[in-house]
This record gives sequence, structure tokens and C-alpha cells, in this order.
Amino acid sequence: MKGILLAGGAGTRLHPLTLAMSKQLLPVYDKPMVYYPLSTLMLAGIRDIMIISTPQDIPLFKRLLGDGSQFGVTFEYRTQSSPDGIPQAFLIAADWLDGSPCALALGDNLIFADHLSAILKQATQRTIGATVFAYQVRDPERYGVITFDTEGRALDIIEKPADPASNWAVTGLYFYDHRVLEFSRKLRPSARGELEITDLNRMYLEEGNLQVERLGRGCAWLDAGLPDSLLEASAFVHTIQARQGMLVGSPTEVAYRMGFISRQQLIEQAQNIGKTELGRVLMDLSLRDRS
Ligand code: DAU
Repeated sequence: MKGILLAGGAGTRLHPLTLAMSKQLLPVYDKPMVYYPLSTLMLAGIRDIMIISTPQDIPLFKRLLGDGSQFGVTFEYRTQSSPDGIPQAFLIAADWLDGSPCALALGDNLIFADHLSAILKQATQRTIGATVFAYQVRDPERYGVITFDTEGRALDIIEKPADPASNWAVTGLYFYDHRVLEFSRKLRPSARGELEITDLNRMYLEEGNLQVERLGRGCAWLDAGLPDSLLEASAFVHTIQARQGMLVGSPTEVAYRMGFISRQQLIEQAQNIGKTELGRVLMDLSLRDRS
């Protein structure tokens, strides 16, 4: 399975923070925002990753992330000249996808869960259909919203409903089978002029092939697209890291735990990061067994 990290858009809801800087490169506590969804894709075992951003921001992503070899993965870069919708990512990536199944992670989404790698593994192993994740929120009208029947089966998904029928929001992490490109080509712009990821998900739902994994109480899902949520995401990462001494959203740590890089590579990266707490925790990790 291949993975796309979508990190474009204008970030207007974060102006003036994003006037001169890509939203997905802003700090979420001690790391650039994009590290978090990148770590999630890597935790799913995905090693072929395309990063899509605006023509002006792509050079910055390249400077930060390089070719991926430091994380034992391969990065491919593409530009999206205007933010015409999330599923446009599949059209941009068409030749690279070459019929592969594909995961898509939005560059401003952070998922934290105890058993995340097991949940992700299941999603990557499904050979037909799509998998999305639902999470209960207080402000569902900001998101794609899923309604369920009494048996817990997904009934419908609506993008930003004015009057949400449930508080289950669809998160910005999606897994699709090899037909994703074929389905994306059938999409037409919505009333707001964008190709909608919710319309793509509805195609899978209508043929009975949309798996909705509900993330429960023990999970955190944050999207850092607003000043408040950016602050909350930083506070969340700080709390977990300071209290438990564990890292959240470190591609280096995930690369080591997944066996993508050797202990020696881990040590080199910990040294490169320098005298920071992040560098110290990575160095400590190299002294323990991989688990
Ligand atoms: O965060 C989850 C939500 O993401 C879902 O619940 C919604 O169904 C989905 O439509 C999306 O809603 P948003 O309002 O958050 O979408 P937004 O336009 O803010 O785009 C999300 C990210 O994707 C953002 O970081 C910018 C990037 N993006 C977006 C578009 C439309 C692009 O890179 N290119 C684009 O064309």
C-alpha cells in the first residue's frame, strides 16, 4: 500500500500565522505538524509516501524531509496548484499510484491511540473497500459526519451538515482499495467548488464497502487547523511526553520500532537533533530493546 500526505491549502483559518509559512510546518509542541500524520502512515507500515503541497511550500517540505532515507522510507513530491479538494490528491498521484491501494493522511490531523498500530494494520490488510475512522466531537458541523443505524452500521455521511444528525466526525485518515483512482475520476465539484472526500467515501458506502472504525474514549484525534486546536494539540503532546516520557509523532521513533532503520541510524539521528529533549529520548530508545 502507498500513502499520500496532503499538506497544501492556504491555511486561511490560521492567518496571519500562515501568511508566510505552510500550516503543516507550524510547530505542534516540539515537532513540525506534518510529523504527526507522517508517523501515522509509517506506523501503518507504509514506506512509499507522496507529499503533496503548494508550489511555494514544496521546497520547504523537501528541506525538512529529504528523500525519506533517514526514516527508511521513500518520499515523492508533487504540487497542487490550487486547493480544489482533498480527493484531487489521487488525480495528482495517478501515475505514481499505478493501481495500488492507497492511504491518505491530511497534514493537519493528529491521531493518538494506545492500540493504533493494530487498528492501522487491519485497515491496510483489507483488500476490498475503504476504511475511515470516526470520532465523537462536540462540534460535528465542522467535519464530515457519519450516522449509524441501531446495529451500528454506517447509514450516511454528510460534509459539514448545518444540523448534524450525530456527533461522529470522520477523521483525516483514509484507506482505499485499488479502485480509488477510478472512483475519484467520477467525482464532480460540490456547491463550494471542491472535490469532496465525503463524496468519495459515500461511493464506497453505497456499494456496502465502507468500513467505519469508531475510535473510542482512549483515543485522541485533533486537527490543528484553528488557533485553538493548534494550541490544544501542542498542549496534548506536551502533556503525554512530559508525563510519560514517551514520544508522540516522531517518525524517527516509529521508523526504529517498525524496523525501517537500524540502531546505528537511530543514534545518528538522535545526535543530529542535538541537545534537545527529543534527541535525549531517541538516544535513550537506542539503549533499550526495540518493542
Ligand atoms: O479533518 C477532518 C475533516 O477534513 C473531515 O471530517 C472532512 O470530511 C474533510 O472534508 C476535511 O474537512 P476540512 O474542513 O478540515 O478540510 P480542509 O479544506 O481544511 O482541508 C484539510 C487539509 O487538507 C488541510 O490541511 C489543507 C489540505 N488540503 C485541502 C484541500 C481542500 C489540501 O492540501 N488541498 C486541498 O485541495
